[in-house]
Amino acid sequence: MHLLLHLALATVLALTTSVGAATTHLRFYMHDTVTASASSPSTAALIVKGVAKLPNDPVNRFGDVYAIDDPLTEGPELSSALVGRARGFYMFASLTDGTLLLSATMEFTAGKLNGSSVSVLARDAILDEVRELPVVGGTSGLRGATGYGLLRTQSYNPSNNNAVLKIDMYLKV
Ligand SMILES: *[C@@H]1O[C@H](CO)[C@@H](O)[C@H](O)[C@H]1NC(C)=O
Repeated sequence: MHLLLHLALATVLALTTSVGAATTHLRFYMHDTVTASASSPSTAALIVKGVAKLPNDPVNRFGDVYAIDDPLTEGPELSSALVGRARGFYMFASLTDGTLLLSATMEFTAGKLNGSSVSVLARDAILDEVRELPVVGGTSGLRGATGYGLLRTQSYNPSNNNAVLKIDMYLKV
């Protein structure tokens, strides 16, 4: 009796998965700290310095590449619960404005997704209100994940280049 019930449930779940996997929504915040402070170490490092200054931008150059190992947290404060890290790089990929190529894995270290990751390869026009992050794959519990993220600037400090980004991810596994 119990065995049959379990089999029936397993069948229903298998069908649900194959017909149309549910979308999982994850929200978290990414802390891109270029300039260290007393409370937070630097997690983004300029590793390649571009040659051509961008118009109307005294700081960034075409070709600048930053390696990142940015913490991902549950809330907008760096002190809120750590849920993972974004590791990879971004490059200033436009000759004319602040448009980045962002290439990173987002590895989760909390809850059910602990040990799972998604890979993101995205165009990030940093002044746009919303940027789309195509998810090109995932590992472990997110193996074969498809979907996208929406990235918004939560806060940005032009004096030290530090930013907090809000990310909403919509995934099908
Ligand atoms: C995540 O998994 C690692 C490796 O299994 C484990 O050491 C760690 O305690 C886990 N973290 C949480 C928050 O469950």
